[in-house]
Amino acid sequence: MTEAPNPARMTPDPTAGLEGIVAATTRLSHVDGQNGVLILRGKRLEDLAGTISFEGAVRHLWQDLEIAGSDSLSAGFGQARIAAFQVVPLLEQAPPGLAVFERMQLGLAALPETNRPGDAATITGALPVLLAAAHRCAAGLPPLAPDSTLDTATDLLRMLTGVRPPQSHVEALNRYLVTILDHGLNASTFTARVIASTQADLKQAVLGAMGALSGPLHGGAPGPVLDMIDAIGHPDNATGWIGGALARKERLMGFGHRIYRTRDPRADVLKAGLKALGADNPKVQLAERIETAALAALRTAKPDRPLETNVEFYTAVLLDAIGIDRSLFTPLFAAGRTAGWCAHALEQQRTGKLIRPSSRYVGPPAA
Ligand code: COA
Repeated sequence: MTEAPNPARMTPDPTAGLEGIVAATTRLSHVDGQNGVLILRGKRLEDLAGTISFEGAVRHLWQDLEIAGSDSLSAGFGQARIAAFQVVPLLEQAPPGLAVFERMQLGLAALPETNRPGDAATITGALPVLLAAAHRCAAGLPPLAPDSTLDTATDLLRMLTGVRPPQSHVEALNRYLVTILDHGLNASTFTARVIASTQADLKQAVLGAMGALSGPLHGGAPGPVLDMIDAIGHPDNATGWIGGALARKERLMGFGHRIYRTRDPRADVLKAGLKALGADNPKVQLAERIETAALAALRTAKPDRPLETNVEFYTAVLLDAIGIDRSLFTPLFAAGRTAGWCAHALEQQRTGKLIRPSSRYVGPPAA
């Protein structure tokens, strides 16, 4: 019998987490972590978010990929929403305890084969329908059929609530969806590229990426951010609560990033969205006080490691301000990021190269 490798005896691995390793070439997005800049296909995030719709940003991102129908995405996404509604009965029959995120995965898996480039629009258009239907099924409410004449953000909010949303909420949601559209080779995008490199069906790349996104160190943070804000409850409690969490070696959700050594530019874009929304309620003021206290505490606790506000902190505050339930934060991130995942998957497939790195063996020699 061979002895199992003992991680405790492994020597530190300089490539752990693949930090600093370049694993893909892309025209889609660039994260400049030193300067706190995010470039989406030649444009800074600040010049896109808040100025164009989700459809406009996806068209911009996809323009080199020759995806059929990407010049008329509003219509394409509308048709995709209608088609996706066909699989919604499956979501209704799912076991009652199944989470919204898993119901979305179920619906995505049930879509017909998606192996033509135009299917990027089929999948990206489907996710908002699956999200809204999964939410309503989980809440014991009947799913609402899509309206293909509406834009994605308006129809998504309408399918969630049953009422036509105010324009300010639509604009805030568009700003959010544009902000999270794509972000270099993060864990879920890398997952999508690995799956796509095997020439698997496009929806498999998105299903796998969703799995990677679901963890609290990636896309699962904004719900816990809101839990933290609620637990703190009052600005006067912020410093004590945060000090206690750091003393217990807990991580503060919504802070820190693998690449950014300065503030995550997405945090400011979303914070600006709160201003545009006119949301100056006590919760927003509490969040700002918590952010200030957290940054001060992190500087003291980790003087050698710049830990700044990341996208998830103001994601939680902005989505809460437009009435999105915290259980939908990660599903919504997935719905928006799907456009980026599809683009990376197609870009990777076109290289024709299988991603297959090597590992360093530290187990016992063969007996
Ligand atoms: N709160 C407290 N300490 C933190 C922290 C946080 N949010 N983020 C990192 N640290 C600390 C770690 O504990 C570690 O300390 P140590 O060296 O004493 O063990 C050090 O900073 C480096 O952390 P590490 O996990 O190696 O860095 P990373 O680059 O791999 O981490 C994240 C990036 C995002 C995983 C990390 O910052 C984190 O867990 N943040 C909270 C979750 C979150 O907001 N995720 C959304 C990301 S967009």
